[in-house]
Amino acid sequence: MARTEEDLLAELNADLREGVDWKQGAVTYLREIVRSGGPTAERYHLIKPFVGGPDYAPFWVDVFQFLDVVQTADLAPGDVVIDVGCGPGWTVQWLARLGHEVIGLDISAELLEVAETRMQNDPYPPYVEKGFAYDLREHDIEASPLGLDRKARLALFESTLHHFFNPVAALRNTLADLADDGIVAVIEAAAPPKGSEWDLQNIEIMQTYDTIERPYTRAQLLDMLELAGLPYVAFLRPVNGLVPQSVDGLSPMLWELTRADNINIFVASPTAAGLERVDLPVRTVESFRTGWTVVEGVSHRETREDGTAYRWAGPRVLVRLDGPGPHEIAVATIGLDPGQVQRVRVVAGGKVAGSVTLTESRGRATLELAGRPGQIVELQSDRVFSPGWHGEDDPRLLSFTLDEPG
Ligand SMILES: C[S@@+](CC[C@H](N)C(=O)[O-])C[C@H]1O[C@@H](n2cnc3c(N)ncnc32)[C@H](O)[C@@H]1O
Repeated sequence: MARTEEDLLAELNADLREGVDWKQGAVTYLREIVRSGGPTAERYHLIKPFVGGPDYAPFWVDVFQFLDVVQTADLAPGDVVIDVGCGPGWTVQWLARLGHEVIGLDISAELLEVAETRMQNDPYPPYVEKGFAYDLREHDIEASPLGLDRKARLALFESTLHHFFNPVAALRNTLADLADDGIVAVIEAAAPPKGSEWDLQNIEIMQTYDTIERPYTRAQLLDMLELAGLPYVAFLRPVNGLVPQSVDGLSPMLWELTRADNINIFVASPTAAGLERVDLPVRTVESFRTGWTVVEGVSHRETREDGTAYRWAGPRVLVRLDGPGPHEIAVATIGLDPGQVQRVRVVAGGKVAGSVTLTESRGRATLELAGRPGQIVELQSDRVFSPGWHGEDDPRLLSFTLDEPG
């Protein structure tokens, strides 16, 4: 179960300086950044996401992540999209260019002016017979919903959720204008380790501009979503770029993909229908809290007659802990003879963190897993079997089955 909203906000805002008007900081941000950064800062907001070189990294990140999310949202022409905290409006422009009806809301009138300038200077709407369908509204989403006539298919939070003093209120108010099978999509960084360079950089920005820069941990996000009424969620990672057709291309990518909690890109929905509509696995916030995901070392998923699911596992399986836990994994041997024993160990951070002993007569047991969300733990078996169930061409060395929830 989630903490109370009050407890969550107390944790999220514990390190924020007292007596600061954070909303006013957001309203005057553009003025302040132009004052300190000059015309370059203003121009950046007009041309975003484009950047002059030599460092193109922010461009690739912004564009690919945004396009991946929009592709996933699987929108139809004319679908309503709420762009929450649209700022200078590059996402409004791209969504409108795709033929969607975009409601861009922001607390800063000055940033909305930049967005309007951008739209006014774009001569080419997608359809010859009508102009861009967009509406820019000065609105504090933490305070109230928009109250739209047509409900939205997508509510996008592009680099915005971590700016809110009360992100639960922002999500809840957005949800009020979302269709039943609509989705909320969030794209932003995850909380950096305390004291890291990036953490210190965020603290400096907060001091300079009185705007909030405090990304969230996975555990905080799970509570936030549940409290806001978004119990279904899929955490995602982008995969972009050309990859060599060899282990050099794929292995590093797999490694990167399995580390899920160092980036906060996710789609959440009020009903299972939202995730189903966009073909994402339907999992609840609660299942992430105590859940885990196998990332290496198993065969495909199979279902028993009673509907429970399991996988065949080799001698070394990597499992990612999805939430703060506690977590449990049920394992069962697949081929012990009487008198034989099999040990399955959990190794976390290079240390043995638990083990079970299986025998022919006691072939099933449950392992307790502890650790932080996102941590990869390893299950190791001291026995392998070569069942060759699929004939001579089945090279698998299998050790045990593991029950998979959901
Ligand atoms: C980092 S900017 C992101 C802007 C835009 N999505 C983009 O990617 O360029 C965060 C935005 O959230 C807006 N914002 C902050 N608090 C808000 C609130 N309570 N209601 C609406 N917008 C808010 C800020 O004014 C700012 O434009």
